[in-house]
Amino acid sequence: MSHADDTEGNRRDFLYYATAGTGAVAVGAAVWPLVNQMNPSADVRALSSIRVDVSGVEPGTQLTVKWLGKPVFIRRRTEDDIEKGRAVELADLPDPIAQNENMGEAPALDQNRTLDEAGEWLVMMGVCTHLGCVPLGDAGDFDGWFCPCHGSHYDTAGRIRKGPAPTNLPIPVAEFLDEATLKLG
Ligand code: FES
Repeated sequence: MSHADDTEGNRRDFLYYATAGTGAVAVGAAVWPLVNQMNPSADVRALSSIRVDVSGVEPGTQLTVKWLGKPVFIRRRTEDDIEKGRAVELADLPDPIAQNENMGEAPALDQNRTLDEAGEWLVMMGVCTHLGCVPLGDAGDFDGWFCPCHGSHYDTAGRIRKGPAPTNLPIPVAEFLDEATLKLG
């Protein structure tokens, strides 16, 4: 093998390895964010369950807390809200499933949407099931929530009644630890 061949061979090898190296870096950069998202950091894990003091929430008002990066609506309903919610027939609901993580596949009756038997406490993710905007409270054609992004109307139980949203606002795992303390998650 001549000296010239030798040099060329080395250069070819060098180019080959350089290209492979660049590829490896690019793949590494694309994969890392995914791996990172699948391994939530310690503070995110610590927040997977939170306690909320609801002692200051009056009937007819709503407390919004941020949980796992999303808003959660904690609504203390009025008698009027409860009556309106309970008067609705299942057949009139676009989504007949309660979407309540505490209840499996229960039908979307008003009493399957609230945390307490009296129907006062409605706790749900404040994220429109259409494309994820945050609906406005005390608004819309059904006196519940209205999503201004594309016009979805939710009733006083957070059930979709009109507009493009496909499902009721989801109810996360939640329970009362005592009268004033709500645990999410
Ligand atoms: Fe709410 Fe589209 S995101 S209606």
